[in-house]
Amino acid sequence: YVQYMYFCCVYVPSSLHPPESLRYYEEFAFRPDDKLIVTYPKSGTTWMQEMLPLIMSGGDPASVETLHNWDRVPWLEENRALILNLEKRPSPRMFTTHFHYSMMPPSFFEVKPKVIYVMRNPKDVFTSAFHYFGSTSFLVKPGPQSEFLQKFLDGQVIFGSWFDHVKGWLNAKDKESIMYISYEELLKDSVTRIAQFMEKSLDTEVTEKIADRCLFKNMKKNSMSNYSAVPKEIMDQSKSEFLRKGIAGDWKNQLTEAEAEYFDAVYKDKMKDVKYKFVWD
Ligand code: PPS
Repeated sequence: YVQYMYFCCVYVPSSLHPPESLRYYEEFAFRPDDKLIVTYPKSGTTWMQEMLPLIMSGGDPASVETLHNWDRVPWLEENRALILNLEKRPSPRMFTTHFHYSMMPPSFFEVKPKVIYVMRNPKDVFTSAFHYFGSTSFLVKPGPQSEFLQKFLDGQVIFGSWFDHVKGWLNAKDKESIMYISYEELLKDSVTRIAQFMEKSLDTEVTEKIADRCLFKNMKKNSMSNYSAVPKEIMDQSKSEFLRKGIAGDWKNQLTEAEAEYFDAVYKDKMKDVKYKFVWD
């Protein structure tokens, strides 16, 4: 049993991405009013899968109360996309992808739907991934922390290199259709900014209600968003909860001083040509 397969030079978990789902992805036809959440894994995907539908519905909680996050804002590259009848969904549709900019299907570049690109301090991404990889059966076990660190920095993990992912999306053409936001900014006030980008006007009361629903402690209680529906054999949340800590800076509890220094040195080199001002720099 092969846990990972290669697609366009990145690893993807084979169980979720059979060849037919990747073919479906490549041929996917976007509509101009589709909304797309794009993330490197562990950067705030699930959070946006809560916030975006609430914003788009003007605060109506129906979809976050009745649909699992993976059906509410489905991943285009996953096998579930094949059975969700996405072509029949009414506009505006919402989707998720973990793929790199260079891997977007042709129609994406023609239609230019709106994208929210969420990025997170890579040391926290690493920390979150380390715990998550250890709790799921469809991902290659992280092994010792030092080994996983090297794999992460080399991009030998699912969806490839964090550095390539972020650089690719930051260098996208048509930037006016992309909103760049960080996990760290989501921790502050972000509902208003995202609503503005989506051209949805929300009154203060609705904005506050959405922000409240999207709090870590409240999402943790939402069985449609906390992955409690996934069997223990696939995701063992007694090892690490999916909604684990929900904070910025947990890398300080995870990396040794030497590991953090090494991470910073690799980061500095790989990001030397990037002009974007990250909140964590
Ligand atoms: S995945 O597997 O790629 O879909 O994971 P993803 O959802 O991108 O990332 C999971 C991390 O996001 C945290 N999270 C939140 N933090 C704060 N507030 C809210 N509402 C929230 N929802 C999800 C989640 O706890 C994971 O981070 P860690 O650091 O492991 O806690």
